[in-house]
Parts: sequence; structure tokens; C-alpha cells
Amino acid sequence: MNYKTFYHRFLQANSGVQHFACHSHHYWPDVTRDAALAYWDDSARWVDDKWDFIFGEKVPKVQQQIAQLLQLTKPQQIVFAPNTHELLFRLLSCFDWQHPLKILATDSEFHSFSRQIKRLSELPNLDLVLVPTEPFASFEQRFVEESQKLQPDLVFCSQVFFNSGVAIADLTTFVAAIADVTDATIAIDGYHGFMALPTDLSVLEGRIFYLAGSYKYAQGGEGCCFMVVPKDNQFRPLYTGWFAEFGTLAQAKTTQVQYSQDGYQFAGATMDFTALYRLEAVLDLYQQQQITVSAVHQHVQQLQQAFLAELERQQHPILNFTALLQQDLASHGHFLTFKLPTTQQVSELASYLKLHKVHTDYRGDRLRFGFAPYQEAADFDLSCLRHYKEE
Ligand SMILES: Cc1ncc(COP(=O)(O)O)c(C=O)c1O
Repeated sequence: MNYKTFYHRFLQANSGVQHFACHSHHYWPDVTRDAALAYWDDSARWVDDKWDFIFGEKVPKVQQQIAQLLQLTKPQQIVFAPNTHELLFRLLSCFDWQHPLKILATDSEFHSFSRQIKRLSELPNLDLVLVPTEPFASFEQRFVEESQKLQPDLVFCSQVFFNSGVAIADLTTFVAAIADVTDATIAIDGYHGFMALPTDLSVLEGRIFYLAGSYKYAQGGEGCCFMVVPKDNQFRPLYTGWFAEFGTLAQAKTTQVQYSQDGYQFAGATMDFTALYRLEAVLDLYQQQQITVSAVHQHVQQLQQAFLAELERQQHPILNFTALLQQDLASHGHFLTFKLPTTQQVSELASYLKLHKVHTDYRGDRLRFGFAPYQEAADFDLSCLRHYKEE
């Protein structure tokens, strides 16, 4: 399939650009523009009744679409928020910070988690253990061993690590191994996995919290993140908004704060649902065009091979296959990460590439190249690398 036809507007606005930063800011398909306008029109049409329409029709539809993608049977356990940080913080607020609290995570979690947890760990009773993801080959085993040793209250781990692109080999097996050795609450940050890697959560349904959002591979832009919440949990988020009372609003007020009986137990308060409309439009497009996550993943894997072949042709002294952090392409998300000798070399090289319309992004000493359905192998041209430092 020629996926490019769905991205005319972004491609036109960035003509001549080789966009390798899609793992960060994914282009949006054209249908999302109409979706943004539809939100405006629905706001005009429904005015005060907008929330009944959105919560009665739009939210359940997108919950259903996401559930289908992740092979979940209980779409009502999916809750939306503008970003994952809000959902994460709501989960953290379920624990009693005045009592000893043990949290196990990795040294490679995205800033929303790592910054927040670093600040929280200033509390004297919080015991935070971070397992290094490197060496990758032994990571899963080391993480499970540490789960057994620490007996944490909360385990937090990415499905695909944002600073390497390395993916957990099999989420079901990994979570099962953790659950075998501890009773911890398990939360998976699926942001770099959702709609990039075919993900089947059927066996994990009811056992894990799973966070993701639409900014990356779901292509709906910022503002629509979600969390899959295990059913029948006993949590009472301290950080709670009035959306979390849906289903109980009509009941007489009790002295104790009530929570929804579904995923909306973890909801916040009033938000702009334009992004949910955009996500819905992408998911509709996938359904109408019979685009599957597997097919896109295959396309991206072919692009990654083609990119490495193009890189090989350039014979660059520092940006080459040897610098690729994880050389096994099968255990990757949709971006490749190269570790260069210094952070300065990385920022200089990224700027040079940008000057030549090759857009990447970088984190410290790591240069990241992402791949997307709107690219084709024939587009790749890294010949500018030959003249690097000579200009
Ligand atoms: C692994 C991961 N999690 C979460 C996020 C987004 O976090 P937030 O929605 O809190 O801004 C990102 C964004 O780049 C990410 O890479």
C-alpha cells in the first residue's frame, strides 16, 4: 500500500524533508484535519449537551477501537487524559506516601516518570530502585530478579525504551515472570509500543495498568493519552477530578468520595476532546483502508533495513552500524538509536543533518532515527554525510 497518499498536507508542508523524527512528532494523516473541524462543529451543534454526546458516543467508540487494537474485552476500562503524566500521577496518588513505599523501575523511563519519581523519592519513606537497561541481553532477567529481591509495591517499565528503541521481547512472558515473584501493582508505559508493535494484551487484561497516547504512532497528535485500568481494583486515587465520579453523580452524596466502577475511576476533569476526534479519525482510516499495525510494522522494519544499507554506503567514521546501540533489529520499536562518542558530536551532527533537510532528534549522546508509514526506502539519501566536516 502507498501510505503516503494519506499524508498529503504534512508532506506538502515539509517538501524535501527526510523526516526521521516521527518517533517524536509523527506526521498526522489528512483525515485528522477534518476531525479537528468536526469537534468545532459538534461543539456548536450540541452546546450544553456536548458532554452527553462525547461521553455517550465518542468516548465509547474510541475505547472500543483501542480495545480492539490491544485485544482487550473491556473497553470501558480505558480512561483518557491529555497526557500520560496526569494518569501516572493519579496512579502514584493511590499509594500512601506516608508509609514505606517501594518502587521498581528502570534507568530508561521517559521524563514524565523519571522526573516525577526522582522528586517523590525525596520523601524519606520512598525506596526507589532503578534497574539499568544495559546490557540489554540480560535486562529482563535482572529486572525480574530485582522484583523478587525488592518486593516492590509498584513496578513501572516501558514496553519500548525511549532512549534506545529496544523493546521488551514478549510483554506477556515478562509480566508473568514479574507477577510470579511479587504481588506488586504493574504498570507498563506503552507509548513507544502502541500502534508501532503489534501488541496483544489479552492475557494481561485485568493484571496491568497500560499507558499510551496518540502523539506518536497513533498519529492523532498531542492531547489524547489513555490508561488501561484493571477491573475491580481497590484503588482510590488521591488526585481525582469530577469526571472520576461518572456513574455515581446522580446518587446521593456520601461522606466518602465515590469513584466510577470502570476505568473512569482514574479520570481527571474537563478537557478538550479535539485530540480524541483526531485519534478517532486515524483509527477509522485504519479500519476503512484495512491498515493493520502488523503491516505498518513490517513496512517500518523494511525501512530500517534500507536505512542501514544507505548508511553503509556512506561509510561515515562515527555514524555507522557499529554505533547502533542494539544491533538486533527484531527487538526494536520504530526508531534506531546510535551512540556517538560525545554529546557535542551528536548535537553538531544533528544540526548538520537538519541543515540538509534530514530531520532526526537526539538525547545526550544518542542520535535517534525514526521510521513511519509515510516514508519509502527510495526516499533515503544520506549522501550529505560524505561532506560532513568538509563544509
Ligand atoms: C516512553 C514515553 N512515555 C510517555 C511519553 C509522553 O509523556 P507525557 O504524555 O506525560 O508528556 C513519551 C513521550 O515522548 C514517551 O516517550
